[in-house]
Amino acid sequence: MCGIIGYVGSRPCRDLVISGLERLEYRGYDSAGLALPNGDGFTAVRAVGNLAKLKAALEDVAGDATSGLGHTRWATHGRVTHDNAHPHFDQGGAVAVVVNGIIENFSSLRRELQAEGVVFSSETDAEVIPHLLARAYEGDIVEAVQKVLPQLDGHYAFVAMHASEPQRLVGARHECPLVVGVGDGETFLASAIPAFLRETRDVMNLESGEIVILEADGVTVLNGQGPIKRTPETVDMDDDAAEKAGFETFMLKEIHEQPQALYDTLGDRLRPDGNVVLDDFGLDDAALARTERVHIVACGTSYHAGLVGRYLLEDWAGIPVHVEVASEYRYRTCLAGPGDLVIGITQSGETADTLAAMRVARERGAHVVALTNIMGSQATRDADGVLYTRAGLEIGVAATKTHTAQIMGLALLAVKLGRLRWALSGAGAADLGDELRRLPELLQQYLDSPHPAAVAEVAQRYANHRFFLYLGRHVGVPVCFEGALKLKEISYIPTEAYAAGEMKHGPIALLEEGSPVVTVATDGHVFDKVVSNIQEVRARGARVVAVATEGNEQIAEHSDDVLWVPRAQPLLSPIIAILPLQLFAYHVAQTLGLNVDQPRNLAKTVTVE
Ligand code: F6R
Repeated sequence: MCGIIGYVGSRPCRDLVISGLERLEYRGYDSAGLALPNGDGFTAVRAVGNLAKLKAALEDVAGDATSGLGHTRWATHGRVTHDNAHPHFDQGGAVAVVVNGIIENFSSLRRELQAEGVVFSSETDAEVIPHLLARAYEGDIVEAVQKVLPQLDGHYAFVAMHASEPQRLVGARHECPLVVGVGDGETFLASAIPAFLRETRDVMNLESGEIVILEADGVTVLNGQGPIKRTPETVDMDDDAAEKAGFETFMLKEIHEQPQALYDTLGDRLRPDGNVVLDDFGLDDAALARTERVHIVACGTSYHAGLVGRYLLEDWAGIPVHVEVASEYRYRTCLAGPGDLVIGITQSGETADTLAAMRVARERGAHVVALTNIMGSQATRDADGVLYTRAGLEIGVAATKTHTAQIMGLALLAVKLGRLRWALSGAGAADLGDELRRLPELLQQYLDSPHPAAVAEVAQRYANHRFFLYLGRHVGVPVCFEGALKLKEISYIPTEAYAAGEMKHGPIALLEEGSPVVTVATDGHVFDKVVSNIQEVRARGARVVAVATEGNEQIAEHSDDVLWVPRAQPLLSPIIAILPLQLFAYHVAQTLGLNVDQPRNLAKTVTVE
């Protein structure tokens, strides 16, 4: 959470910093700011709101400084105000700092500094850092950072500059991410690679606990023992992902990128005979075959992908699967151990709770694999193995293409484990392989059909309802959870999602005449049961919107509106059934005039617990 960027070079950098922040805005957008050295301290500009506000505030500011730092904030400590926006400064205005993360012992540090006469100008935890640096400064900002780091508890990354050393930036990271971009006579430091991808593809990752010194013509990395050698690697990433490519929003573009994301995630991993090859998994086939249990830990949308994965793994591989939100898993007694496979699903590879849950399981001796979309992310470095989704950069805060790609990743694993454990025959695996291969085309057909326009029309009609209940059974349950999450996070309409069989045990009391109920009623062995539940809610006056399989005319009799999807293998239906629900949420939010790419209070990457 929060995006930070620093630049040192020879080009005027105001616009470079802003362009970097634009590519980090998905990490937080409640306020933003930058600091540029001006020969007599810093020119600092901060603004509440998204980057458009900062840009407007910068109109009259000279842009000729050749170094600087910037920040886009997701508030943790302190309200969303001008004073709480970063950069933060010491009292003399000589030290400028931008911070991502949390300084957990800030209260005691703040009291200590106040007792020495320091006056704080914000409510943030971050502001202790420039004051501590100013206190420690004896002419060398690197030495000051080295002195201050042992005083800080928490998980954070920060970038600091001293006005009397304007051609030097110092970065430090403890758990939160920080990457270096090495250009020709210029260097960048940022929370994520896309921030500087337009300028350079040569990247250096930093490990937790390291300090980095940036100068125009070089980078020095230090750990506790002194300087260490680190060579930049050239990354193969697509900067176009940061453009909307003609779509109105990133979310809509990313919904339409799902066929490609599935196709790329399959890649050449699935062989014609149904065999699946997962490079980087960190376990050979013999060891994988001996796996006794699978634990899946994740948050939010990634957790919902994990819930779908459980059906696939249990059904196709016959292996017991436990799925849990990472924020709970990490604090329970962990019973995973040698022989267990723990999969941390995190598209960003940075979610603090998921990383912590993976760490707990790894300490217990389980084999931990990161299912992630981001190469080189923290999850990949903390895990024993990696299974990459290849969805491309996702910028819309509401996850869409990474979700379906995660299910595809889990499906591949389920086929592989199924073969290794003899739960699937060769012919069975080959048939499932054909079903998986069909999915990108199926999603493309759906997106090219009249169905998405029909979803938009239905969404416009329902947009003024103040509550939605989502009901489904079996694999339809996680689809409901995910559909309901999409609606609440971008439209701010309260939703409940339930296993339809649970409805009579409480939630049915919520229904009144005209209450909208969204049901996942795709073809499968629980279809008739879902229809019975639909009858029950209609008997109480509810209006039913059903996601159903094309050609199933029966459902039309039982629903007020139908969102049709093409037929898929029943266990794989979540990959297609979620599309109309993503679009439904999207069009409700658009009808209400909301910013779907930057919903309030949220951030794309949740690096605090
Ligand atoms: C919702 C959404 C979040 C994320 C969650 C985990 O649309 O995107 O619920 O799924 O914050 O993020 P990752 O997958 O990066 O760990």
